[in-house]
Parts: sequence; structure tokens; C-alpha cells
Amino acid sequence: MFISHLITKRIFAALMPVFLTACYDADNEAKSGQTTSQQSNLPVLEVYKSATCGCCKKWMTHLEKNGFQSISHNMNDLASFKSDKNIQSQFQSCHTAISKDGYVFEGHIPAKFIQKFLAEKPEGAIGLAVPAMPLGSPGMEAGDNFSPYTILMLMADGSSKTYAQIKTLQEQYQ
Ligand code: CU
Ligand code: CU
Repeated sequence: MFISHLITKRIFAALMPVFLTACYDADNEAKSGQTTSQQSNLPVLEVYKSATCGCCKKWMTHLEKNGFQSISHNMNDLASFKSDKNIQSQFQSCHTAISKDGYVFEGHIPAKFIQKFLAEKPEGAIGLAVPAMPLGSPGMEAGDNFSPYTILMLMADGSSKTYAQIKTLQEQYQ
């Protein structure tokens, strides 16, 4: 009894940081290789992520329900990939998506703002970012829980601007 309780406690303690980052994928996909969605004619986003991160996959599902095709690439060294793409550490999240024309979309950005950005292609911008992983953002759903967040526009000179302020769950969707 005592021993098994101890083991359970230890396993739980070991898993806690994983639960806290909400980035654990129970049905762990293959560590390498790519998965491609089946629709055609929709704009494609290449999504660079870690193999074990479940919220990235949920975000990709959100993309696919909202007008995008997504291709996943599992990577070990995401940090250097992000800095190569000019995404500074204060703007970083779990995954990085790249559009066909090379724009970057960092983190749990709602699809409708990516569509808006790609339609406008604002001058001097390299893409959008939602730093960290706000609770209730697409892929980070937790019932009615929501923490307001800002979508930043990343500029080629390394600066950022406010692109949109998201105050409610509903504003994220069409
Ligand atoms: Cu995430
Ligand atoms: Cu992610």
C-alpha cells in the first residue's frame, strides 16, 4: 500500500511540469516524418514543433477547421530555428508556422488573424506572434477559462507592434 502510494506520488511529481505547460501529447505521434492534411487549394502553413507537444497539434486542428492546410515538422532544436527566423526570445511560444511566402506565425494565433495578415501583408512586417501560451487561445482551450492576450506584429527591424488585443474567447473566432 505504502510503496505503491509513494510510486504514484513520484510519477505524479515527475509529470507535473508537463501538465503545467499543457504541452503533453498522450497519443504521441511518430517522432520524425511529416503529416499532411488532405484538403487542397487552401493556403499551406508549415508548422515547426516538438514531437511531444499536444497543444501544437490542437492548434493545427484549429487551422484546418478555419481555412488552412497544415504540414507538421517535428524538430529537436526549435530555439535556434526560431532565432534563425528572427523571432526573438520574448516573442517565442511552442510552435512556429511559416507561410508559402515566408511569413512567420509564432504561437497560438487565431486563424482569422493569420488570414487578415496574409491579405494585408503589412509593409515591414515579418509575421505575427502570440508569446507564451495564453489560456483559452486556439489549441489551449480549457472550458470557459480565458486570459486576454495581445497579438503582436513582428517587424523586420526586430521591433513589434500591437496587431490585435483579444479580450474575449469569442473574438478569436469568425
Ligand atoms: Cu502551445
Ligand atoms: Cu504548440
